[in-house]
Amino acid sequence: MDKNLALEMVRVTEAAALSSARFMGRGDEKAADKAAVDAMRRALNDIAFDGTVVIGEGERDNAPMLYIGEKVGLGDGQKVDIALDPLEGTTICAKGTNNALSVIAIGEHGRFLHAPDVYMQKIAVGKKAKHVIDLRESVMYNLKAVARAKEVEVDDLTVIILERDRHADLIAEVRATGARIRLIGDGDVAAASATCFKETGVDLLLGSGGAPEGVLAAAALRCLGGEIQGRLIFRNEEEKQRAKKMGIKDLDHVYTAEELAGGHIMFCATGVTSGDFLKGVRFYYGGAETHSVVMRSQSGTIRLIEAFHHFDKKPNYGWENENEASAAKKH
Ligand code: FBP
Repeated sequence: MDKNLALEMVRVTEAAALSSARFMGRGDEKAADKAAVDAMRRALNDIAFDGTVVIGEGERDNAPMLYIGEKVGLGDGQKVDIALDPLEGTTICAKGTNNALSVIAIGEHGRFLHAPDVYMQKIAVGKKAKHVIDLRESVMYNLKAVARAKEVEVDDLTVIILERDRHADLIAEVRATGARIRLIGDGDVAAASATCFKETGVDLLLGSGGAPEGVLAAAALRCLGGEIQGRLIFRNEEEKQRAKKMGIKDLDHVYTAEELAGGHIMFCATGVTSGDFLKGVRFYYGGAETHSVVMRSQSGTIRLIEAFHHFDKKPNYGWENENEASAAKKH
């Protein structure tokens, strides 16, 4: 994997973040998502590489852009597979709450799980606990194992869980162990990544979220030295058939991070709204500031990049059209 692609990828997530951040708090999820998708696609198509989207906005029919199988890039460079989410946390962005990200991961051909858009049961932890978790075991088993690995008590642990009705039993089970809980509205890629940053105070992610987000979280955790395990959840026969069509043979398999996002991985994210480890986009007169992370599994290097964008010099940076560009400039 050519490490020089790192800065190109930062430009891609910056463009999507700059575009969608204009919709922060406006209550319009679709507009925010569209702005991110359009900007990300344009930025990807400016890069000298030969990319194929394997985790994208959806299958061809319900996603006109950045769909699974779409070719991006100028087509004359390195061949890579791409997992992306131009706006991870559309509701977060629409509400203006924490941890909306623009995310992309690139890897060697065939190393990302071709995950159907179904739910995935997940457990994620940081480096110290990476060898002790087992999704097949009980909540109590995992919490005790993580507490031992981190040399703390179970009631010192903080578990992050998406606040959903389907998690009522899980939440009750975690509460019964004495561990603390942080409930979040959306954004389990950021939540899984938070387990790898001591400052966040988050020890584990538990619960189900999107399977594509599981692959993206695996890419991030491979670079950060943590671990995620995931098992696909099927709500009906149609979802099972879709998974089989995408090449999944064992529907009950528990995937490791390496199986979800294997080989050499590069992961990049830009904050859209401020969160646990990235600041959101800040606009000011004539420009904006973005905060991104780019990291590689091979070297383990984590680069945090603060960028200052000048709209007078780059009027079309990420904007959809002239009107948006001039609105941005006036800001
Ligand atoms: P979107 O950005 O696609 O809205 O996803 C947000 C998210 O919270 C993910 O982080 C998570 O994996 C998934 O939705 C959970 O799905 P649901 O909202 O159906 O519980």
